[in-house]
Amino acid sequence: MARVFAVTNQKGGVAKTTSVASLGAALSELGCRVLLVDLDPQACLTFSLGLDPDVIELSVHDVLLGRLSPGLVVRRTEDGPDLLPATIELAGCEAVLLSRTGREHALRLALAEIDERYDFILIDCPPSLGILTINGLTAADEVIIPLQCETLSHRGVGQLLDTVHDVQRLTNAELRVRGVLPTLFDARTAHGRAVLADVSARYAVAVLQPPIARSVRFAEAPGSGRSILTTARRSRGATAYRAHARALLAGSATGAASDPRREGGGGAVARGTAGSTPRTASAVPPVPVPGSTPPGGSPARPPVAAGVVAGMTAGAVVGAAAAAAAGTVSRATSR
Ligand SMILES: Nc1ncnc2c1ncn2[C@@H]1O[C@H](COP(=O)(O)OP(=O)(O)O)[C@@H](O)[C@H]1O
Ligand SMILES: [Mg+2]
Repeated sequence: MARVFAVTNQKGGVAKTTSVASLGAALSELGCRVLLVDLDPQACLTFSLGLDPDVIELSVHDVLLGRLSPGLVVRRTEDGPDLLPATIELAGCEAVLLSRTGREHALRLALAEIDERYDFILIDCPPSLGILTINGLTAADEVIIPLQCETLSHRGVGQLLDTVHDVQRLTNAELRVRGVLPTLFDARTAHGRAVLADVSARYAVAVLQPPIARSVRFAEAPGSGRSILTTARRSRGATAYRAHARALLAGSATGAASDPRREGGGGAVARGTAGSTPRTASAVPPVPVPGSTPPGGSPARPPVAAGVVAGMTAGAVVGAAAAAAAGTVSRATSR
């Protein structure tokens, strides 16, 4: 059975699509069978993998509405992975799904029909926390959160983790947060590192290593219908995504330096719970969300005590614990 990852952040332009395309290509290079799912009505993943969304007739929209089996819709891409493509029709799908019973499970049920054909399924979520993203999270084993390392980039993370918690409570108890993937990273400034330390301290999420450096090579790739793994195969960006792919394949959450300046080291630095296990494994509990209440239980303890996030100083850990205990860790609720 495939391991399913939802790549999500409700903020646009943080490299969700780029990460899905690049990780997918890197996993294919490693010999894995990969399916990518374009869950964004803007269909940028579909376009960037060489398919024209304006002429595609069968898309993920038909699958979510139960009209077609996913096997009929899947397309091959030159980069290696298969793709469940999107078109603009997906925008209307949200409204139709909303009136349906079991709407959160449409993608999960569809993928169950074909997941034995793949080792990995990566879902490119849209920039919102609506029903399409909920479908992505409900279908996933783990969440990867691309985060642009700039001021205020943490602002949506609490709201996203609230949504993850809701999904854990209501539709997918096994869902786990693999961690934040630093993107568009500028290693020349201390600012990016400060943002990362702040995010891991506030929310006790793992920071996956290495960061993906900002590079013009990424902007060039989509126009050619191939990922950076092909268009600039020796670039630092391609090397970094290969490192993350190896970590996904190893199912490992350890093994690299925690210094965000390092690149290409391989692996993910994470809390003890951020490793990867199949959906059926129940040994590892879901990542707790600050201020949250587990199903049928008392409010979660401040999660920072459960493990030290990579790269955090002792002071940051203590500070985050104190903030959580004082109830100052924000928990956005509006959706
Ligand atoms: N590491 C990077 N360096 C420079 N540009 C990048 C990088 N990663 C992505 N981009 C560019 O940033 C833009 C937004 O990326 P995209 O993957 O579409 O984000 P999202 O899916 O989150 O909206 C695209 O033009 C993409 O080519
Ligand atoms: Mg996108």
